[in-house]
Amino acid sequence: MDAAALEREGLAAVASAATPEELDGVRVEYLGRKSTLKLALRDVRDRESGLELNAIRERLEEAVEAREDELRSAVLDRRLTEEVLDVTLPGEERHLGTLHPTTLTRRVIEDAFLGLGYEVIDDREVETVHYNFDQLAFGPAHPSRSHRDTFFLDPERLLRTETSPSQIHVMEAKKPPIYMVSLGRVYRRDEITATRFPIFHQFEGLAVDRNITLADLKGTLLHVMRTLFGEHRQVRFRTHYFPFTEPSLEPDVSCPICEMEGCRTCKYTGWIELGGAGMVDPRVFSNVGIDPEEWTGFAFGCGIERAAQLRHGIPEIRPFWENDLRVLRQF
Ligand code: PHE
Repeated sequence: MDAAALEREGLAAVASAATPEELDGVRVEYLGRKSTLKLALRDVRDRESGLELNAIRERLEEAVEAREDELRSAVLDRRLTEEVLDVTLPGEERHLGTLHPTTLTRRVIEDAFLGLGYEVIDDREVETVHYNFDQLAFGPAHPSRSHRDTFFLDPERLLRTETSPSQIHVMEAKKPPIYMVSLGRVYRRDEITATRFPIFHQFEGLAVDRNITLADLKGTLLHVMRTLFGEHRQVRFRTHYFPFTEPSLEPDVSCPICEMEGCRTCKYTGWIELGGAGMVDPRVFSNVGIDPEEWTGFAFGCGIERAAQLRHGIPEIRPFWENDLRVLRQF
C-alpha cells in the first residue's frame, strides 16, 4: 500500500464531502474498522511504518473533525438564512365576532327590567287567533285580523303581530302580583321601507298589582328610557287607542339625536314616538280570570330596532336584517 497516496485520497474525499452524512461515509471508508489504514495498522511490524501510519491516521481524523465543524456551521448558516422569521410581515387577521346591535340593545333592556324585579320571558312566535286577537279584545272587524296585514299559517294560527299575547299567557299561568317583560320577534305584512320591515323585535312589559296607576307606568318607562338613551331623557304621553288598554297612550321620548334642538329624526318636533302603552283593560282581566275590582295593571310595547337605531344613530331599519359584516363589525 502506498501510504502517501492513501492520505492524499483520504484528504481529498474529506474535502469534497458536502454534507455531514457524506462525511460520515468518508470516515467509515478511510478510518473505520475495516478501512485499508486500520487493517494496515493492525498488521504493522516495524516501528517506523507504525509511526507513519499513525501520523496519517491523526491527520485524517483532524481533517474529518475540521470538515465536520465546517459542515455543521454551514447547515446552521443555511437554516438561519432560510428559516428566518420576518417579524415585519403582517400577521394573519383574525376576526372576533361582535354582538348584533339588536342583541346589545335587548340586553340593556333586559338588565333594566331585571333591576326593577321583572321576570324576563321568551315566548312563542307562532300564535293563535285566540291569543293574538280574541283575548286582547280586538273587535271582530279589526284590520289586523286580515290576511293583508298578518301572516296566517292556517285560519287559526299566525305569526304573532306583537308581543302582547305574552300578557295573556303570563296572566293565565300566574296569580298577581305580576311583573314581566317579554322580548322577541314579531311579524307584519308591511312593505320594506326605511322605517318598516316585515319582521322586527318588540319588548312588552306588564305589571299587575294592587293600586297601580298611570304614574307607575310613566315612572317605569322614564327609568327604562333613561337607561337606554341617557339620564336627560324626558317622557310624555299622547292619548291613543289599543283594544286591550284603557286609557291607551303613545309614549314619546325626548329626541336623543338632537337633544330636542330639532332634527330630521324627530321631524323637528324634539320628540320621538316609541311604541304603545296603557292601563290593562278590565275586559282583558276578565278574559284571564283576574278580578278587575281587586287588581290593576299597566302594559307597554316598544320596538327594539327602533331603540337600537336611536342609541347608535342608525337612520334605517334595513341594516338590522341585511347582516352586512361591514356594518355589524362596527358594534
Ligand atoms: N302591542 C302594541 C303595538 O304593537 C303596543 C302596546 C303594548 C300597546 C302594550 C299597549 C300596551 O303597537
